Amino acid sequence: MKARYISLDPYVPWTQIPRPLDLPRLFGRDAPVEVEIGFGSGDYLVRRALEEPNKDFIGIEMAWLSIRNALRKIALSRVRNVRLIQGDARVLFKRLFVPGSITYIYSLFPCPWPKKRHAKHRLFDAPFLKLLNSRLEDRGSLLIVTDYRPYYDWILGQASGCGFELTTEACPPTYSTKYERKWLEEKGQQQFYRIHMKKIGHLEIPLEEDVVLKTHVVEDFSPEHFQPKGGKKTAVVEFKETLYDPPREKAMVRAMVAEGGFVQNFWVEIIKDGPQWRIRPAKGCSIVPTVGVQEALDLLYEAARQEMPRA
Ligand SMILES: C[S@@+](CC[C@H](N)C(=O)[O-])C[C@H]1O[C@@H](n2cnc3c(N)ncnc32)[C@H](O)[C@@H]1O
Repeated sequence: MKARYISLDPYVPWTQIPRPLDLPRLFGRDAPVEVEIGFGSGDYLVRRALEEPNKDFIGIEMAWLSIRNALRKIALSRVRNVRLIQGDARVLFKRLFVPGSITYIYSLFPCPWPKKRHAKHRLFDAPFLKLLNSRLEDRGSLLIVTDYRPYYDWILGQASGCGFELTTEACPPTYSTKYERKWLEEKGQQQFYRIHMKKIGHLEIPLEEDVVLKTHVVEDFSPEHFQPKGGKKTAVVEFKETLYDPPREKAMVRAMVAEGGFVQNFWVEIIKDGPQWRIRPAKGCSIVPTVGVQEALDLLYEAARQEMPRA
C-alpha cells in the first residue's frame, strides 16, 4: 500500500480530546462558528471557508472517505479556518458543542431515505431539530436544502415546537455540491427545496457528559467458566469474544456498546494484579466513557463473580 502524504491537522479526533470542544482553542481565535452536517466531498465547506476568512467552520461527516477527500481539498486550498470531525451528527451535537455556541448550521442534500420503512433514518426529525436549536446561539439559524420534495414536507411537519421561525422556498441550483450537480446532470432537476430556520426561542438540552468509570476487582477468575452475557439497560451491550493469555494471566473481552446511535467497540481487560483480578478498559482503547461503557464493565464483573468458587 502506498502512503498518502496529507496533513491531518484539520482533523479533530474527538474521542481522544477533552469534551465539550473548546472552540476558541480549536481555532486559535474567538470567531463565529458554522457547522456543515454531511459535507460529502467537502467542496462547499472549503469554498465557504475561503469566502469567509473571519469565521470558523466545522464539517461533520460519517464517512471516512469524505473526510479524506476534504483533507486533500483543505491542503490544496491552504484554507486554515476549517476542522473536520467524523461521526454521527446526533452524537456529536449532544457531546461536543455547548448550548448556544454555534452561529449557523447547514446541511445540503441530506440523505432523503425515500422508502417508507426507512423514514426512521431521516436525520432532521423533531428531537434533532430541538438539539440543533439548543446548540445555536440566540438568533442563530439552520439551513436545509433538499432535492426531494417529500423530505422537505416531512421536515416542515417535524419543525413545530422546535423554537424556529421558518422561511421556505423552491430554489434553483445554487450550491454546486456533488449531489446538487448529480441531480442536475443526471435527472435535469432544476428545482430544489430550501428551509431556513431562524432560532426564536431557546430549548435547553444539556450536554451529554462523560461519566467517571468505576472499574472492578474480583478475588478470583476462571477463564474456562467465564461466559459474559450482554444486556439491554440504558445501552445495548454485546460481548463478541474473549481471549485468554495464561502466562500473562490476562483475559481480553471485545465489547460493543450502542446507546442512542452511538456505537463503541472496545476491549476490556481482566488482569491479575497481586492477589486479585482487575476489570478495566484495555489500555490504548480510545473510549468515550459513557453510562453504556459502565454497564459493560458491570456485566463483566457480574459474570466474573459468578465464576468464583463458592465457600
Ligand atoms: C446525499 S450526501 C450529500 C453530500 C453533500 N452535502 C452534497 O451535497 O454533495 C449526504 C451525506 O451526509 C452524510 N451523513 C448521513 N447521515 C449523517 C449523520 N447522521 N451525521 C453526519 N453525516 C451524515 C453521508 O455520509 C453523506 O456524505
